[in-house]
Amino acid sequence: MVDPITWKEDRVLLIDQTRLPAEEVFVEIATYQDMAQAIKTMIVRGAPAIGVAAAYGIYLGAREIQTGDRGEFLSRLDEIAQLLGSTRPTAVNLFWALDRMLKTARETALGVEHLKEVLLETAKTIHAEDLQTCKAIGDCGLSVLPANPDKLNILTHCNAGALATAGYGTALGVVRSAWSAGRLTRVFADETRPRLQGAKLTAWECVREGIPVTLISDGMAAHCMQRGMIHAVVVGADRIASNGDTANKIGTYHLAIAAKAHNIPFFVAAPLSTIDFKLASGAEIPIEERDPAEIYQVGETRLTPVGVEFYNPAFDVTPAAYIAAIITEFGAFAPADLNQLREKQAV
Ligand code: MRU
Repeated sequence: MVDPITWKEDRVLLIDQTRLPAEEVFVEIATYQDMAQAIKTMIVRGAPAIGVAAAYGIYLGAREIQTGDRGEFLSRLDEIAQLLGSTRPTAVNLFWALDRMLKTARETALGVEHLKEVLLETAKTIHAEDLQTCKAIGDCGLSVLPANPDKLNILTHCNAGALATAGYGTALGVVRSAWSAGRLTRVFADETRPRLQGAKLTAWECVREGIPVTLISDGMAAHCMQRGMIHAVVVGADRIASNGDTANKIGTYHLAIAAKAHNIPFFVAAPLSTIDFKLASGAEIPIEERDPAEIYQVGETRLTPVGVEFYNPAFDVTPAAYIAAIITEFGAFAPADLNQLREKQAV
């Protein structure tokens, strides 16, 4: 399985997700400014992976701070966190990881040089924990997948796979666990316009591991459901409000509506760090809007007439009523029961 993020000697290696599947290129990140840019330009993407990358970003920034004064060090660290936090607004794992790093710095009563070492260890811990978390999500998912038929066709959207996490994935983690347990016939992957994470990344991960995958364009999902080709939908999440409303890649919401219309269970797979208990409902989730060129251009080729206007939200919010269960590392919960997890959240 691919390691999208690796700490190597004194820097971070990121697989460049903007160049997959054509090229497997690793980018070296040695400064927090470069890490912020890598998150913004989606060299690294997917909510948990963004969180891990940002945690390393804090350390990369911390090690450059030239002061022995703790107060000055901490205020400089806040500025670094602000830059990293300004990159992508929707994925709450970014802010969760930054908060955890800053809290560690504030609460560790050590001199600046030792504090820097503690920050690197904390980033490595966040990284390692995410991999374990994804494996636990995969196992929990297995217990809630429909019992019939024995072997399932699972539809997923975007890429919530190894690439979007420290490895293994959330939604694709459930798929991987189902495949290992002999419960999967095939994955249907939505291509996921406009950036095609399904076509480029999910398909790449599945093909590499020999998991049968059929690519469909986004508009084909309801048709496949109507034809009885889909037994469950499993997607990831960028932010889940306390009531279970879930922000995920644009196109997720209409998938949930179509699943309900066809009586197909719709699952969200996400770590506890994706739940934002500060928000009462999905209406409060900030939705990132991206460059319209993502819609009107493929490579260097412009697809649309000049003069047309654009709207390019990167995420939508699926209301909790459409979600059968939210699969976390602590088990699967009905959206109404999410509050049971509140006190488990580390930050
Ligand atoms: O814009 P992206 O590619 O970062 O969006 C990714 C998604 O929407 C994923 O489904 C989500 O982050 C969960 S990743 C485990």
